[in-house]
Amino acid sequence: MPRYSDELINEIFSQNDIVDYVSQYVKLRKNGRDYTGLCPFHKEKSPSFHVNQEKQLFHCFGCGAGGNLVQFVMRSEGLDFLEALKLMADRAGIILPDEDNIADDKAHQKKKQIYSMNKAAARLYFETLTSHDDGKVGLEYFKERKISPSTIRKYGLGYAPDNFDYLKKHMNKLGFSDDELLEAGLCVTKNGKIYDKFRGRVMFPIIDLRGNVIAFGGRIINAVEKDGYKPPKYLNSAETPVFNKGKNLFSLNLAKKDSAAQCILCEGYMDVISVYQAGVTNIVATLGTALTENQAKLLMKYSGEIILCYDSDEAGQAATKRGIEIITSVGGRCRVMKLKGAKDPDEYIKSNGIELFRKAIKDALPSTEYLLGTLKSQYDTDNPDGKIMFIHKAAEVLAGVKSAVEIDAYVKKIADETEISKEAIYAELKKIRSNDKSGSNIIRQVKMPSKEKNAALDSKIANAEKRLLGLVIDSKKAYQIVKEEFSPPDYSEGPIRKLAEMIYNCYETGENIEPPLIINKFDEKDADFVSQIFCNIETYKDEDNTLRKLVNSIKIERLSIEIEKATNENDVIKVKELLTLRLELEGNK
Ligand code: CTP
Ligand code: MN
Repeated sequence: MPRYSDELINEIFSQNDIVDYVSQYVKLRKNGRDYTGLCPFHKEKSPSFHVNQEKQLFHCFGCGAGGNLVQFVMRSEGLDFLEALKLMADRAGIILPDEDNIADDKAHQKKKQIYSMNKAAARLYFETLTSHDDGKVGLEYFKERKISPSTIRKYGLGYAPDNFDYLKKHMNKLGFSDDELLEAGLCVTKNGKIYDKFRGRVMFPIIDLRGNVIAFGGRIINAVEKDGYKPPKYLNSAETPVFNKGKNLFSLNLAKKDSAAQCILCEGYMDVISVYQAGVTNIVATLGTALTENQAKLLMKYSGEIILCYDSDEAGQAATKRGIEIITSVGGRCRVMKLKGAKDPDEYIKSNGIELFRKAIKDALPSTEYLLGTLKSQYDTDNPDGKIMFIHKAAEVLAGVKSAVEIDAYVKKIADETEISKEAIYAELKKIRSNDKSGSNIIRQVKMPSKEKNAALDSKIANAEKRLLGLVIDSKKAYQIVKEEFSPPDYSEGPIRKLAEMIYNCYETGENIEPPLIINKFDEKDADFVSQIFCNIETYKDEDNTLRKLVNSIKIERLSIEIEKATNENDVIKVKELLTLRLELEGNK
């Protein structure tokens, strides 16, 4: 993330008032120290949304959303930090220095050049499609597939004529060399000759969250076999310095702002476009590959729940299973949509209409239910062998479920359906879980129990540290109490420690704590995390000993992790030592 100077960021914040800005969205009323109103980020009847003019922060006591002005803009407009900052700068008539003044290293220049080449190519493809004779076949093709001119514009769709140097000539004229065209992946070489990569294809530009064209997908419209070679239906850009297909999703740029509750994930470009055109805008697709962990995490940043809507063929169903594994392995929630009587979402809405599609979204099955349902259909549960296999496989699925209540509900259901006792199913589950410990028979989504426990402890520690630092930020008095007992190196490694260093340093040097400036020192990924701490408007109250309790609980949890480790290593002496320490701390609670 480019780092604008502190002065500049300060200027942007001081020229925009949060109460003033938020009032465009929320009817605010002065209420004691704060302004209050109905939260724009969740449905509510009585106001729990607060804006504090003095701190220039907002916070909703209903849904927990909070932050400074830029973070309000990020949420309400679906922008990232830099985009929101730019918007606020514009609003105040402040001109931000160009990104190239900030980081003009070589790699950055290279990327910038590829972006501009991609943009020029996208423009040519678009213009060819919409207004050249060469593009008529493409336009005809989209018309046949019921894609409207406004959708073509929205997605910047295009056409690459079936010609070896249509793009190359144009780009050469614009001053780009052949080598540059190769590097951008727009041209390829064969037998020493260079020619356009995309020929005779309708073109789908892939656009990142900042609006840069990072790659293309192209669909053949007239597949003729030449010399025994049949070109692939879809062709995608190769990886380039600006394109990593496992880290991007098609149409996330358009979907992100409508995806807070959920986002649909499907296979094809055409699926996304045609569903979007019909009015369901929270839909994205992978880029011709299986879902990656990076993509799942990226989507989870914008969306509380992922709705898998892969093709109904066998490949699609296998991909659904893998998708569930990936999403759950990175801590996400997903459900699975069923499209009855159609191959893919595009076909489905063409024959059933968008309202039935909306209903199918509502009816999407929780991932566990989906997995169990598929298993059931794979085994003949009318005969004993089939039943046994089914129970075994079902127990493997259940071993990956965390909630005991959920497990119980499914066990009951399976018991009812198979007439096998709940106890017997639980026994199977137990067997699988103990097998997992020894490493055998693991299916991917099943986490090792001890690791899971550690993760839970880790997040307990993280939460306590966040609260602690939040209180320190809120009050110098809190800082003075905490600083001896818990100094920056005591915070977990990572952004929280870096933030603690800055905050403690402000107190030591007597500098003001300016949240927007501090956030600017973190990269984009950590900025969310840091703003969350700032927005935690828990105020420090002198009278209780919250601080002491928090510090203690962090130390206790850390000891617990060490105890677990020592136990696993059979280090009895160490375990004893650690247990004594922990008991002492627990006595202090
Ligand atoms: N895909 C690909 N390469 C191929 C085939 C498919 O990259 N040779 C990717 C594309 O991203 C495509 C998606 O897989 O959008 C789904 O492919 P498929 O189901 O075959 O096509 P549809 O999306 O249904 O495309 P269409 O409706 O145009 O036939
Ligand atoms: Mn299709």
